[in-house]
Amino acid sequence: MKNIVYATSEAVPFIKTGGLADVAGSLPKCFDKNYFDIRVILPKYACMKQEWKDKMEYVTHFYMDLGYKNCYVGILHIEYEGIHFYFIDNEYYFSGPQPYDGGTWDLEKFAYFSKAVLSVLPVIGFQPQIIHCHDWQTGLVPVYLHDSFQQNPFFWGIKTIMTIHNLKFQGVWDVKTIKSITGLSDYYFTPDKMEAYKDANYLKGGIVFADAITTVSNTYAEEIKTPFYGEGLDGLLRARTNSLRGIVNGIDYDDFNPATDPHIEARYDAVTFRKEKVKNKLALQRDLGLNQDENVMMIGMVSRLTDQKGFDLIAYVMDELCQDAVQIVVLGTGEERYENMFRHFDWKYHGKVSAQIYYDEPLSHKIYAASDVFLMPSLFEPCGLSQLMSLRYGTLPIVRETGGLKDTVQPFNEYEGTGTGFSFSNYNAHEMLSMIRYAEKIFYDRKRDWNKMVDRAMAADFSWHNSASQYEEMYNWLIGE
Ligand code: ADP
Ligand code: GLC
Repeated sequence: MKNIVYATSEAVPFIKTGGLADVAGSLPKCFDKNYFDIRVILPKYACMKQEWKDKMEYVTHFYMDLGYKNCYVGILHIEYEGIHFYFIDNEYYFSGPQPYDGGTWDLEKFAYFSKAVLSVLPVIGFQPQIIHCHDWQTGLVPVYLHDSFQQNPFFWGIKTIMTIHNLKFQGVWDVKTIKSITGLSDYYFTPDKMEAYKDANYLKGGIVFADAITTVSNTYAEEIKTPFYGEGLDGLLRARTNSLRGIVNGIDYDDFNPATDPHIEARYDAVTFRKEKVKNKLALQRDLGLNQDENVMMIGMVSRLTDQKGFDLIAYVMDELCQDAVQIVVLGTGEERYENMFRHFDWKYHGKVSAQIYYDEPLSHKIYAASDVFLMPSLFEPCGLSQLMSLRYGTLPIVRETGGLKDTVQPFNEYEGTGTGFSFSNYNAHEMLSMIRYAEKIFYDRKRDWNKMVDRAMAADFSWHNSASQYEEMYNWLIGE
């Protein structure tokens, strides 16, 4: 049996702020249970839903040193869909209204979490061959493992993987503060280890000390070795190129299935979508107060409203786009300027634009099902899951050719009759607008071609199946089998 621990700051269905949660919650289920025992460790946040907190069983607790502090570490447990999830309980660290606050507090919180992940392993009696770490919040796991934990033979030979879901976030603060928070010695704070540009950097620590590094698409794995996408760590990633690979994300094909989805008005599949899908559009128009029109092209967006996702391009041409025969539905939260921009256009083009500025899982499913196209013009995109969800629901993505978007959306080629969506290459608002207008043309004038593209989109397979076997291969290789 191969024992593997996932260390992550979020996982569905317990807590989610972005795609990391979908990956950490759904990937562990996709391995053969006869060979792999994959367990997930995450924080127990006070902001988790009460129904989950009620289900957690107390395992035990102990105390752990962190810098000059001595901290309580509670362990709670839920078995969910055959996977063991362990929750690290400490109300001092995890009591905020959301998982992240965005300041030094996060750095202390996740130093605590990373050290606790290692400390609980002997306590729960689970000795992994591999610890698979996700994003900067767990970057210190490989560092701590290399450090004082080596005094205990329990930890000898454990391998680590650092998966980068988003290189933009690295966990950076000044060396002095981080030294005192983490209790790590001077040895770790040099430019070949955790120091980057004079500051301490958690993700860099993870990248330097992990045995293997992955990111969530092939294109992003290449892009991050260049200065534009490298967020200051491109040199290090070039140096570690032999240990770095891209494995594209999948999505949970049971949770995202238009044939069984309990959240949508009319269920459909690859055969029935021609008649049924449009009922979801009419229902959403009714629910959101949009003009009732089954023939209009509906553009959907479900996203964090940040620069990463290309919202400055949208802001730039939004007024122009609103002159077209389209409806626009946005569900998202994030930067205030984008929230307000969409509220403004909802007011200005009422009946045509609908801005839902909050987080709502069921509504996101309704939008994936109801829309004709899904717009995602990201500046950069490590993988992106929304476009995969759209494909699954026969909603054609319009994307910029970057990262995982490039690897998962095949652009329409009208001469060869291929493609599952539309894409453009430069980060330019009018290039995006022309591509939207090209999609409008196909949608309104060439319905047969459109429907064939929907056929291909729904036939594309982005379930975890392929990617999980690539992870298996890597696990086996690291374990030496
Ligand atoms: P990222 O992780 O960068 O935010 P992804 O495309 O990988 O982007 O994943 C985003 C996930 O979060 C998708 O499952 C998407 O449906 C979901 N999501 C984003 N914003 C909202 C929202 N306001 N309400 C519901 N789901 C959302
Ligand atoms: C990050 C990335 C997104 C990716 C997700 C899951 O949030 O921004 O592109 O899909 O992680 O790997």
